[in-house]
Amino acid sequence: MAKITTAVLQKMKQQGEKISMLTAYDASFAKLFAEQGVEILLIGDSLGMVLQGHSDTLPVTIADIAYHTRAVRAGASDAFIIADMPFMSYGTLEQTLQSVVPLMQAGANMVKLEGGDFLLPTIQALTERGVPVCGHLGLTPQSVHVFGGYKVQGKTAEKADAMVRQALALQEAGAQLLVLECIPTALAERITQALAIPVIGIGAGNVTDGQVLVMHDLLGISSGYIPKFSKNYLAQTGEIRSAIASYVSEVKAGTFPGQEHSFN
Ligand code: KIV
Ligand code: NA
Repeated sequence: MAKITTAVLQKMKQQGEKISMLTAYDASFAKLFAEQGVEILLIGDSLGMVLQGHSDTLPVTIADIAYHTRAVRAGASDAFIIADMPFMSYGTLEQTLQSVVPLMQAGANMVKLEGGDFLLPTIQALTERGVPVCGHLGLTPQSVHVFGGYKVQGKTAEKADAMVRQALALQEAGAQLLVLECIPTALAERITQALAIPVIGIGAGNVTDGQVLVMHDLLGISSGYIPKFSKNYLAQTGEIRSAIASYVSEVKAGTFPGQEHSFN
């Protein structure tokens, strides 16, 4: 696979080739995912839940993300890696500039921040200083206590319009990628068409430029509450490499996510 860069991802959007992305937290899985053609590896702060066992992502620290980013980079030297900025590590501009250093030095190619308008100066400052930014709108899990639970976002016409406007503002500020989480498919389609940068969805229907899943959901490791948008690929293939290959090919074909994994 050709080395993935922001320029390659941009070209994939223009050519209508879907982008596959997965969370990864260690060298072994990172290597396997990259070998199966997953274009982007995300060191998600979901690690607070799936690795550390917390009930939300808030306890995760920059040191945690840096540790796992180093491991993922060691396993996948050519991969395009996004590191999540954890809760309150980008509360102020000064704090943000300090927070990104260990992540980029650990091998990240880009950082991801949750939120809209309040992040515009931050995104501009990071991009100007050489740190590519991925935005994240919709159900942003660091705000779970504000939302009052993990709920689908952007359901009213007013909130949908606001999200389209915020997405455009993030792009204008310099964001080079955008994740949309748990929003109605029609809204994801509006945003994907409005933006020049690639849009990656999770629980946003098959209309975005690419898809992301938490690896534990894809492999059926998570128990208890299983989100509607996830799919257990290991159950249908019985082998981890085939499960990942099947995820990548369904993303490319646009057959994942189906209606049953989407919100209308
Ligand atoms: O932390 C994470 O895994 C994420 C993805 C679900 C987008 O942010
Ligand atoms: Na995250």
